[in-house]
Amino acid sequence: MYRTVNCGELRLSHVGQEVILSGWVQATREFGSLTFVDLRDRYGITQLVFNIEDDRELCEKARELGREYVIKASGLVRERSNKNPNRPTGDVEMEVKSLAILNKSKVPPFTIEDESDGGEDLRMKYRYLDMRRNPVKDKIIFRSQVAFAVRKYLMDQNFIEIETPCLIKSTPEGARDFVVPSRMNPGQFYALPQSPQTFKQILMVAGFDRYFQIVKCFRDEDLRADRQPEFTQIDCEMAFVTRDQVLDVFEGLTRYVCKAVRDIDLPEFPRMSYDDAMRLYGSDKPDTRFEMTISDLTGNAQGHGFGVFDQAEVVLGINATGQAGEYSNKDINKLTDWVKRPQIGAKGLVYVKWNADGSIKSSVGKFYSDETLISWCEKMGAAKGDMLLILSGELDATRKQMGELRLEMGRRLDLIDPAVFKPLWVVDFPLMEWDPDSNRFHAMHHPFTAPKSEDIDKMLDGDHETMKKLRADAYDLVINGVEIGGGSIRIHDRALQEKNFKLLGFTEEESEKQFGFLMGAFEYGAPPHGGIAFGFDRFCAVMQGSVSIRDFIAFPKNNMGRDVMIDAPASIDAEQLEELGLNLNLE
Ligand code: AMO
Repeated sequence: MYRTVNCGELRLSHVGQEVILSGWVQATREFGSLTFVDLRDRYGITQLVFNIEDDRELCEKARELGREYVIKASGLVRERSNKNPNRPTGDVEMEVKSLAILNKSKVPPFTIEDESDGGEDLRMKYRYLDMRRNPVKDKIIFRSQVAFAVRKYLMDQNFIEIETPCLIKSTPEGARDFVVPSRMNPGQFYALPQSPQTFKQILMVAGFDRYFQIVKCFRDEDLRADRQPEFTQIDCEMAFVTRDQVLDVFEGLTRYVCKAVRDIDLPEFPRMSYDDAMRLYGSDKPDTRFEMTISDLTGNAQGHGFGVFDQAEVVLGINATGQAGEYSNKDINKLTDWVKRPQIGAKGLVYVKWNADGSIKSSVGKFYSDETLISWCEKMGAAKGDMLLILSGELDATRKQMGELRLEMGRRLDLIDPAVFKPLWVVDFPLMEWDPDSNRFHAMHHPFTAPKSEDIDKMLDGDHETMKKLRADAYDLVINGVEIGGGSIRIHDRALQEKNFKLLGFTEEESEKQFGFLMGAFEYGAPPHGGIAFGFDRFCAVMQGSVSIRDFIAFPKNNMGRDVMIDAPASIDAEQLEELGLNLNLE
């Protein structure tokens, strides 16, 4: 037998028992005649003791153990004289009677400690060693607990878990597809699913009523901390439901999981329209852990001879409370450089300081009287001591820049409490957005999303401008400024779906070729339906207050989309290419 207990288990109540432990050597220390070995497994660390005066041979064997050797030790549990209150097993130790080396280890390329000395690339290459470290291991275990809680909640609500295929045809979720060549159909390709969207809708036509799946999705897009090319969704669909019923079920899921795995009691889930989110927060995923909402100063700022504001479509401001006395000219210059970075793209930054003594100082002081500037402050709810930060330009761009500046100020002023969780539903997204580059409309969510019922008639005979204003029955769940999930009520009628494809620039042949199977299914009694998908990796990360999803994935890809442990992607040999009908010339 390899073990009778694990390395996290022993307590004072075990004192006097003979036990067997197996695990990895975390560290060895020598103190005079004593040798201590910290033995680690998934559950914890237990101290082993060897005394040279009791058994010289055994002790010498222990002294030769290297880091990460795999060993089995048996012996007697005894109370420690020098207790370690930082370890659950710190009251006891094992007096070792026999020791077996199960496997040796090379010296690991980085320390297997909570704070490792290994760089990101090295840790990724040796991911199996990285996952021995508590911070990574705990996140992987946490993920499994989240999956369990999700399944428990959904199955209690009558959802059925159904697997959908990975070798499919393109689904238009807005990213590029990963494709797989078909040997048996030379020159033809499967696409890996960007989501199981069309399949889950077909499952509704099939009558399954409530479907879910914890499912891998694949998107060939540029990577960021919260994006992986291969990620996991909690994908759900329901038939015979209204939007509000969908939101209620998934608010319930979010609440249940947060309570079950982290003991978090979530507050209200307010609903905010997309328009309000953009107007007040400059983002469709507002971080509502702090206020600092955006005010429109266009009417107040124009017509006073300041050309930059006069020529702008909008002038928008935020109020940095209490900062008039804190921000020096140098600080303002630094902040101006920050908004001018290409990632933000503002042309400049205007400030108005309403000093504590009532005086006004502003970078646009020569164009506006103090009274005018004070009236801006008052409009924005500012008080003496506050500082306004103002950007101007084209509406959409300025809102986005202001949204970024708001988040940056929230961080700089320490207004974001990491212990707080603020969920909200963003609702009433536009159905489509105009893309001047491709000169056509794109579905804002995806082309299966239904317009709001009051907008259906407008959609059927609307012109270009009306199209831009159509609202969809689409919603996103946002927590702490992270888009956790998105979904919509779907079109379930062939004629409306055809019309939607047409508005999105598909020819009849194209929509028939790509989605004829779905529209065909709609002709055989498709029930009204809707659903949502949560980003499972993001949901796990947000619950742990983490921005990066990478550590919640056992084997993630790096920023170049590479798995550096197995060294993929890799070229394949000529024979395999030939067999697949891919006679590429990659010279
Ligand atoms: P959507 O495209 O909004 O909707 O995706 C749903 C959620 O998946 C997560 N997500 C990602 N997570 C990690 N890496 C990525 N590359 C990535 N891309 C998306 C996000 C997002 O909110 N079929 C629809 C859902 C529906 O309509 O029911 C869909 O896939 O958290």
